[in-house]
Amino acid sequence: MEMQYRRLGRSGLKVSVLSFGSWVTFGDQLDVGLAADCLAAAREAGVNFFDNAEAYAGGESERIMGRAIDRLGWPRHSYVVSTKLYWGIHGATVNMSHTLNRKYLLQGIEGSLERFGLELVDLVFCHRPDPDTPVEETVWAMSDIVSRGQALYWGTSEWPADDIRAAWEIAERHHLHKPVMEQPQYNLLARRTVERDYARLYDDIGLGLTTWSPLASGLLTGKYLDGVPEGSRATLPGYEWLRDMLTAAEANAKVRALADVASDLGCSLAQLAIAWCAHNPRVSTVITGASRPEQVVENMGALEVLPHLDDAVLARIDAAVR
Ligand SMILES: NC(=O)c1ccc[n+]([C@@H]2O[C@H](COP(=O)([O-])OP(=O)(O)OC[C@H]3O[C@@H](n4cnc5c(N)ncnc54)[C@H](OP(=O)(O)O)[C@@H]3O)[C@@H](O)[C@H]2O)c1
Repeated sequence: MEMQYRRLGRSGLKVSVLSFGSWVTFGDQLDVGLAADCLAAAREAGVNFFDNAEAYAGGESERIMGRAIDRLGWPRHSYVVSTKLYWGIHGATVNMSHTLNRKYLLQGIEGSLERFGLELVDLVFCHRPDPDTPVEETVWAMSDIVSRGQALYWGTSEWPADDIRAAWEIAERHHLHKPVMEQPQYNLLARRTVERDYARLYDDIGLGLTTWSPLASGLLTGKYLDGVPEGSRATLPGYEWLRDMLTAAEANAKVRALADVASDLGCSLAQLAIAWCAHNPRVSTVITGASRPEQVVENMGALEVLPHLDDAVLARIDAAVR
């Protein structure tokens, strides 16, 4: 089982096609010790990119990842780490939440670096678009973060295609650091943004993708086929809003249909769903998530499934989720 490394869009940075992120899990489900176990399992499989965000667990996720990596003793040059800015962690303080203004971005990155215990993150994302701040102001601020050496590359998350193109063009016009990557949701039940909305951006501006929720928060593992299992994401306080999506009958019927394809390939549903995301060459890296090391090990097994996704299998998958 060999990890593949892909260029992050047109940049020279190579990221493992499967990566590992900390949303929901670090802080709420995993302490530093368990987080280190999951990180170690991912790295053992060849993962070199670890995703995070300021807002995850109110800043605690960055602290935990920083401490866990420190405990594991990984040399800084050997991994790629990210953060994302937008929601803020100072409550509703004016200028510091739900924004991409210059004040917030330049102060926000300093807070993230402090919590990580790092001098720089490799990637920094604008976690959502902000209609109240001119794109030009955000582009200058993000480019300044890169110029100051606080991040190496910047990108966006869940931005409309037109805004990504506008940001890129502003950067081009002013000789600033351009956005390199976008972080959209992408899985068997959420395909439109990656496959249609961004279709022109890959060749036009060389956009790379770090995609999220390959298992639709666990739905695509089949664990919600017969209701909500104990200890799963749907049972966590604060994530009640996910419950309807995870238990929806129509979605679970699609998962049931996918189970036949997985069974014929001799893999788990999780491995099939993750491999399917990685099969798209526009995807630089599929960010996986896990609440325990055994899930990491299982999910990394998607690498073995990837070569088996030929046209006939892909057609069966399409039919199952149509
Ligand atoms: N940019 C954004 O806006 C954004 C948004 C969301 C996520 N992300 C990034 O993407 C990463 C991945 O997202 P995600 O956590 O939603 O990914 P996901 O793969 O859709 O869901 C992961 C969750 O599914 C369950 N799971 C995973 N593997 C399993 C297995 N083999 N068997 C059974 N259950 C399994 C676990 O939850 P339980 O065990 O608790 O059920 C796990 O925490 C995040 O950590 C974050 O870095 C970014």
